[in-house]
This record gives sequence, structure tokens and C-alpha cells, in this order.
Amino acid sequence: MATVLGTPNSVPDHVPPELVRSIGFMLNPEFLADPYDFFPRLQEEQPPVFYDTDPVMGSGWVTIKHELAFKALRNSENMTIETTSIFPRDPDNYFNLIPQELDPPVHRKFRNVLDPFLSPKAVLQLEKDIRGLANDLIDKFIDKGHCEFTNDFARPLPVTVFLRFMGLPLEMTDTFVKWVVSLISFAERDKAVEIMAEIEEYMSRVIIEKRANPDEGAISRIVHGTIDGEPLNERDIYGFVFFLFIAGIDTVYAALNNTWVWLARNPDRRREMIADPDNIDNQAEELLRIFGVTFSGRTLTSDYELDGITMKKGDRLMALLPACNYDPEVFPNPREVRFDRPRKPILTFTGGVHACMGAHLARLEYKIALQEWLRRIPEFDLAPGTQITYPPSGVIGPAAVPLVW
Ligand code: HEM
Repeated sequence: MATVLGTPNSVPDHVPPELVRSIGFMLNPEFLADPYDFFPRLQEEQPPVFYDTDPVMGSGWVTIKHELAFKALRNSENMTIETTSIFPRDPDNYFNLIPQELDPPVHRKFRNVLDPFLSPKAVLQLEKDIRGLANDLIDKFIDKGHCEFTNDFARPLPVTVFLRFMGLPLEMTDTFVKWVVSLISFAERDKAVEIMAEIEEYMSRVIIEKRANPDEGAISRIVHGTIDGEPLNERDIYGFVFFLFIAGIDTVYAALNNTWVWLARNPDRRREMIADPDNIDNQAEELLRIFGVTFSGRTLTSDYELDGITMKKGDRLMALLPACNYDPEVFPNPREVRFDRPRKPILTFTGGVHACMGAHLARLEYKIALQEWLRRIPEFDLAPGTQITYPPSGVIGPAAVPLVW
């Protein structure tokens, strides 16, 4: 999901100097020390829209305002999602990340292939399975009295759910976990190229197999799907399958990791949740508001005005979703975790045409994880001496969460 903005450090002439900032949050030690203190602080210290010269993400407009983010994200007339993805692809055998790298109207046609299988009703059919998978994972470590939450729960849970949803064998769990870790933590391009080749080799075989033997899984739905009555071409099939893999795993585990650090540090709030199990929907939604994990970057295809500021064709614009979720005009006292907040749309899953396709599945996984964990391990803490660290990444979450109980 990680994308970058425009050319680093350049400020075009049309940008008013008073709006230029250098937040540089990916490498900013204050951000990496505690992103969930940093995001609300942006609300307190920065204007609704500013121009950031970020050495990692590149230069571009940033909005932290809930209303402006929705307004911009719902506008596909003046923007394209064409992004500079961190995933290296062979120009001679290129594939788009589908549907994320497509613009309307073709984008909607691709989404239609899979959207019905990710609707609230469709994902509910996975509930029993997901609950079983969560409990199988907990069974493996509950008697030990400790675990490393990332490796033992937060990563394998979305990987196994993904395998089920895609129609892949659960025996592939360890391999997929290895692939996810290597893909998102790669420091050098060579390693990423190698892992991407491994994934492509495996997925290509699966695609051939699903063509011959259709089933109910998402890969088979894509392989046998149609756009305007025509089957999808090979590169589009692969681009769709590959994108689901990168979209649906690291986001879930980062959200879980962030949440479990908070649960461990706030025993009273945890007990409050346990005492009110019927309020799980509001509890989950509020924690997903607090712990947004990723951003939405766009490029302007024509001049565009946002909050009275004129932006030019070719400028990049990013909605800093986790910061937008702390907009005090929409969520009063935004730092406070309140399970009785009036429901307002959160931006964790973004908004507009590219709103997360897997949001219903992600919410279900997240709720089940909370329910099953808190039922079976209600009392737990961070292991003594734990220092929570956040690696620079397009998906924000702590590197490791050692727990004891
Ligand atoms: C807590 C977990 C998740 C979070 C926070 C999340 C967040 C997001 C965000 C912010 C976007 C928009 C990115 C952009 O604007 O560039 C997005 C798009 C997407 N997500 Fe998720 N996601 C999560 C889980 C999932 C899961 C489980 C799946 C797969 C089943 C999934 C599939 C997708 C797809 C396919 C898109 C692209 C939609 C489009 O371009 O039309 N996501 N997600």
C-alpha cells in the first residue's frame, strides 16, 4: 500500500511560502517515537492544508482535515491515483496493482468482479472460520504465559484469513508470512525483486490450476471474471491477485499491533471493554479511528482548489488519514478513546472511489481478534523492559509487541 509523493524538497512557485513545511514524518524521530502522539499534534499545530517537503515521501500537498480529505478523495475528475509504488515491476512484463492503480470508469468494472464477495453479508460467512483460526493461534501459546504478538498472532491471523478467502491451502501460511515480512521490510531492491519473482512463480501456477478447476475462492472469481463480457487478461489477473495480497495483510496486522500495545498499557479500558461485550462494534470502530495505519496519495490531473488554495496540475496531494481521524471538529477531544462517540465516518479505510474493498472483512477480523483474545487472555501486559519501536514504513505499526500474562 505504500506510495510516495512527488520530487523531494522541491517547492513550485505557485505554493505560498507560508504553507511550506518540512514535517518529514517518516524519518522524523518524534514521529517514529510515537506516531499516535504525532498525528493529533499535527491537528494542534498545523493548518488544514500545507505543502510538505518530505525527503522520503517527496514533496506535495497534505491535508489533515476530515472534511477536506473526503472532498478531495471523492473527486476523481481532477485527480488520478497513478502512484509511484515501492513495488518494483519489470517494465517488459508490467502489471498494474488492481484495482488501486486504475482510475474511473474502468476501475469500477474491475471492482465489480470481487466487490460482491467482500460485502458485509458475504464476509459474515467467513466469521466462523476466522473465529476458529484466531482460537487455533491462541491455543499455540496461551499456556506459555507469553508471546510475541506480531509473529504469533497479528501476522498469521490475516495471512490465514487471506489464504481462506483466496482459496489457497493453509499449509502456505508460513511461506506467505515470510513473503509479507520480506516485502514490507526490504531495504534493498534486489531482495524485493527476488521475493516478487517467487510470489509470481507460485501465483501463476495457482492461476492455471484455478482456471481448470474453479472454486469459491477469490482467485477463481478473478480468473473466471469478466469485464464488458471479456475475460481479464493474464497480467490483470495477476495484478489483482498480487494487490489483494499486499493490501489485505500488513494493514490488518499493523492495526492489531497498535491496538494491542494500547490494550496492554490501559488495563482499565480493557476491563471496560470486557465488561461491555455488546458494544464491540463501537469499541472496534473507535480504536480503528485512533489507529489509522496508512495514507491516500493522488496526483492532480488539472488545477484544483481546496480550502481556498489553488493547486496545479501535476501536484501531488496526500490525505494523511490517521491525522484526519483526530480532527477535533468531527471528533471532539480527539485523543480521548470514547466508546460512546456518536458514529461519524472514519478515514482509516479512506473515502471515495478507492475506499478500501476489504474494509468489511478487516473490521470482522479485527472484532473477532478483540473478542477471542479478551475472552481467553483478559489480563496481559507488555513484557518488562519493552521499548516499542516503529520502523519507517508506509503502513504504521510497531515492529514487535512482546506480551506476558
Ligand atoms: C485494518 C485493515 C485495513 C486498512 C486500514 C486498509 C486501508 C486501506 C486504504 C487506506 C485504502 C486506500 C488506499 C489509497 O487510497 O491509496 C485501501 C484500499 C484497498 N484495500 Fe484496504 N485496508 C485494510 C484491509 C484490507 C483487506 C483485508 C483487504 C482485502 C481483502 C483490503 C483490500 C483493499 C483493496 C483491494 C483496496 C483498493 C481499492 C481500490 O483501489 O478501489 N484491505 N485499504
